Amino acid sequence: MTIVKEQDVVPFRNRVKEYAVKMGMSLVNQTKLITAASELVRNLLKYGKGGNVKIEVINQGRDNGIRLTFVDQGPGIENIELAMKDGYSTGKSMGLGLPGTKRLVSEFNIQSSVGKGTTVTIIKWKNG
Ligand SMILES: Nc1ncnc2c1ncn2[C@@H]1O[C@H](COP(=O)(O)OP(=O)(O)O)[C@@H](O)[C@H]1O
Ligand SMILES: [Mg+2]
Repeated sequence: MTIVKEQDVVPFRNRVKEYAVKMGMSLVNQTKLITAASELVRNLLKYGKGGNVKIEVINQGRDNGIRLTFVDQGPGIENIELAMKDGYSTGKSMGLGLPGTKRLVSEFNIQSSVGKGTTVTIIKWKNG
């Protein structure tokens, strides 16, 4: 899904919700996943100037999960360690998006390169 404007956010959230409901994810995990997805899509729009999001259903052993991949070609993040700290923001906001997201999901991965862009991948297992 391409995300370039504010109006793209709600359809994306709805799509994530649909996938989660379809696989029978618990309501608690659904909420955590959607909260995380909302933070990351906001970052992609605000800092990355838009980009692309992929939604996939994945399997590992007996568990199923949802993997979301956020890709932008924005300015990138100079210091990821700093960006992952609670309260760090270059955008005058709460700075809880990235660290908060990491706490809400099962797996979190961020790769960024200055001048090239940022890719964030999260996984939420159905039962994890
Ligand atoms: N996709 C991105 N591209 C470039 N910089 C980003 C991106 N996502 C996050 N950042 C940087 O990491 C900081 C921390 O992000 P976050 O924890 O979500 O806090 P906030 O959104 O409140 O600033 C941001 O202020 C920004 O500097
Ligand atoms: Mg944020």
